[in-house]
Amino acid sequence: MSENLKNILEEWKGLEEEYQQLQETHRMYLKKLDELSKLQSNCSSSISRQRKRLNEISQLVKKSSKGSSEEDAKILDEIKEKIKIRPNAFFQMEAFLPKKNGLYLSLVLGNVNVTLFNKQSKFAYKDEYEKFKLCLTVILLLFSFICYFFVSYRFSDVILNFLLVWYYCTLTIRESILITNGSRIKGWWVFHHYISAVLSGVMLTWPEGNLYHIFRNQFLAYSLYQSFVQCLQCYYQSGCLYRLRALGERHNMDLTVEGFQSWMWKGLTFLLPFLFFGHFWQLFNGLSLFRMAQLPECKEWQVSVCGLCFLILFAGNFFTTVAVVRQKLKTRNQKPKSL
Ligand code: COA
Repeated sequence: MSENLKNILEEWKGLEEEYQQLQETHRMYLKKLDELSKLQSNCSSSISRQRKRLNEISQLVKKSSKGSSEEDAKILDEIKEKIKIRPNAFFQMEAFLPKKNGLYLSLVLGNVNVTLFNKQSKFAYKDEYEKFKLCLTVILLLFSFICYFFVSYRFSDVILNFLLVWYYCTLTIRESILITNGSRIKGWWVFHHYISAVLSGVMLTWPEGNLYHIFRNQFLAYSLYQSFVQCLQCYYQSGCLYRLRALGERHNMDLTVEGFQSWMWKGLTFLLPFLFFGHFWQLFNGLSLFRMAQLPECKEWQVSVCGLCFLILFAGNFFTTVAVVRQKLKTRNQKPKSL
């Protein structure tokens, strides 16, 4: 046997051994996957059973509370307290279990599983979402800047609006996936992105004319400002994400509800004036468009639809931001020592 062949045979033997090992590992992996999916369906059905029984027992507790002795009432109160916190525990558990997609995700993605099964991948997905937002926001900022100061073609406006539609649609999908994975994004922010997509879509169809040109600069300046504020917001939110992760305080996708750190208040108080200014700019845009819609030469339906979108955005953003700040103030006052 030649020396060359000997080498090949030795190499092949080593490869064969490694292949056998790989086969064994893969077999174990499939077995564990099978066990995992059984455990997942066990947990899911156990949670729905628990929910049902919890409902029944809370009805019973309610009935028994009436006319019970002081001692019994104390025990019933303890049970009531425990019942109250259970749904939250189920929510936390479900963030790590596969579940059926909601209507929107089923329509867009079909019935594919989007649950991420460990904290690291949840964090990585959220992190990537923040980076995507920041990257697109910077592109939008540059584009609005160019359209505002340098080029005044309808074609470039169309590209900007198309980019906005695509951006907001993508955000709604990513946010639905985040919500499936336990994120506490308020429904309004997702709805905000639907409305913004509609607004940019309508702007896209607004025919060229005198009225379009009157509103164009105001809209571009607003887009420029909004992108700037969104950059600040992304910076604040990824700061929260990194800091809390480093402190090891994160629970699932929960950024700030538990243990909102005092340094974050600095970020928030810095951000809030910019946010509120942006909200009033939206109100101003809405009112300007409604005034424009009353002009006799105004024939375009886009004027009042855009005006309505801006007013909805203003109301939703303003009241949700006020509610978020109030809620944060309340938790801060409740836990002054932890800050
Ligand atoms: N878009 C997307 N997600 C948002 C969001 C927004 N505007 N505001 C909050 N969230 C997410 C957070 O990332 C967090 O997610 P997580 O559970 O996955 O960690 C969750 O919602 C809960 O966050 P919350 O504690 O309520 O708020 P926050 O500290 O992250 O942010 C604000 C607070 C006020 C800075 C933020 O809500 C905000 O920027 N709002 C204003 C947006 C706006 O008005 N834009 C228009 C500007 S002109």
